[in-house]
Amino acid sequence: GDGRPRLSVIGTGYLGATHAACMAELGFEVLGVDVDPAKIARLSRGEVPFHEPGLPELLRTHVASGRLRFTTDVAEAARWADVHFIGVGTPQKVGEAAADLTYVDAAVESLARAIDRDALIVGKSTVPVGTARRLSGRVAEIRAEQGLPGQVELAWNPEFLREGFAVQDTLTPDRLVVGVAGPRAEPLLREVYAAQLAADTPWICTDLETAELVKVAANAFLATKISFINAFSEITETVGGDIRTLADAIGHDTRIGRRFLNAGVGFGGGCLPKDIRALQARVSELGLDRTMRFLAEVDDINLRRRDRVVDLAVQMLSAAHGTEADAPAPRGGKTTGPDRQVLQGKRIAVLGVTFKPDSDDVRDSPALDVANRLFTAGADVRVYDPEGNANAAARFPRLEYVGSADAALEDAELVLLLTEWAEFRALDPEEAGRRVAARLLIDGRNVLDVAAWGEAGWTVVGLGHRFDAASLA
Ligand code: UDX
Repeated sequence: GDGRPRLSVIGTGYLGATHAACMAELGFEVLGVDVDPAKIARLSRGEVPFHEPGLPELLRTHVASGRLRFTTDVAEAARWADVHFIGVGTPQKVGEAAADLTYVDAAVESLARAIDRDALIVGKSTVPVGTARRLSGRVAEIRAEQGLPGQVELAWNPEFLREGFAVQDTLTPDRLVVGVAGPRAEPLLREVYAAQLAADTPWICTDLETAELVKVAANAFLATKISFINAFSEITETVGGDIRTLADAIGHDTRIGRRFLNAGVGFGGGCLPKDIRALQARVSELGLDRTMRFLAEVDDINLRRRDRVVDLAVQMLSAAHGTEADAPAPRGGKTTGPDRQVLQGKRIAVLGVTFKPDSDDVRDSPALDVANRLFTAGADVRVYDPEGNANAAARFPRLEYVGSADAALEDAELVLLLTEWAEFRALDPEEAGRRVAARLLIDGRNVLDVAAWGEAGWTVVGLGHRFDAASLA
């Protein structure tokens, strides 16, 4: 080789596939490893199994050049690479708040048993604090038991990439954080990240615990910021006021900052929701039951946004159809909010089901949850998402999925914009108005120009804004 460390990436999901392709782009030889042969076969053909702008091009280029290869054989990686990145998932355990560490544990164990040379194992997955220290001990134990040759050290290097910007975030991150427990990790990782260091990316080299905590602290802070503005939405929805102006105004204070203060249907995805739950579970295990209790509130505020969309749909349809929104619930009905009876048979267009734009990910998606709740309540829901239809249909096959925004809008009595794809922001209110049966819209992300839509005869209610039923009477 050219003297540069050889890299392996264990786990070729979202995080691992992106990391592998980006490291190849930076000139390294990279071997991606996964237990799923179908995934490995697709990646080896240069196909990305999920939607991520820019990634297919990188993957194709470096699979073709031979710099990036894939295998299901972890022993091959163990013999070949100098640095092994672990990018496997740490999903929420079924029915529990805690993270499931099965895949991380298995990846580290299998490497520790197969490496027969000097090497570095670098965890990138998000894990509960204390995991890296435990795994570091486990590696030492296995190697001593088996009398294996070579020095193997473990480090933790959390990943902060956002879906939709994964390539950019990996190639030019805001900062690099590495937690180390021995002398070999820092110099090796400086070689791996030489390009970023040359670009003056802040380099934070610390202990294992701090590195693990940086990741969960960042995500807990971001989730809190979103729920903070969404809690104020509950106030402005009641008393009046403009949530966007409020966010702009406090955001001008550089200590606060405007980003992640967009009020709407709330956060979802594979990270924020599970990370705040796993953090609460972990600190409780540590005997710190009260420490992260506010995150339970952050989670609740976030989930209440979905109730708000359903309630608003009921109120708007009731006002438009002249029925009392708060008529008594049907006999035996368990509804405590407004009477959801009005949803029966109403055609509702749902624009967007992914948890955010430029992604096909529907994990913990507020939009998909709302669509499903309306369907369950009896509405005739038509869903369109530019990239998310297939993943959504795999979860909720009974919803109706259509191939365009126009098809979703056809004869709709109410339109819900729940994911702020550029395509929806660019909709022409006049043209959209000609397709629907009623010009009623809930802007679940506060991205439409309400005045322009109003001129075209629409009643648009953004989340965080008061709805006045009299306006439709
Ligand atoms: C997040 C973190 O940003 C990233 O650093 C970490 O590595 C993984 O988790 P991601 O899940 O890709 O990334 O999505 P992000 O862009 O952070 O958005 C998360 C959710 O918050 C989305 O559902 C989004 O719609 C919502 N959101 C974001 C808001 O509701 N309001 C905002 O102001 C910002």
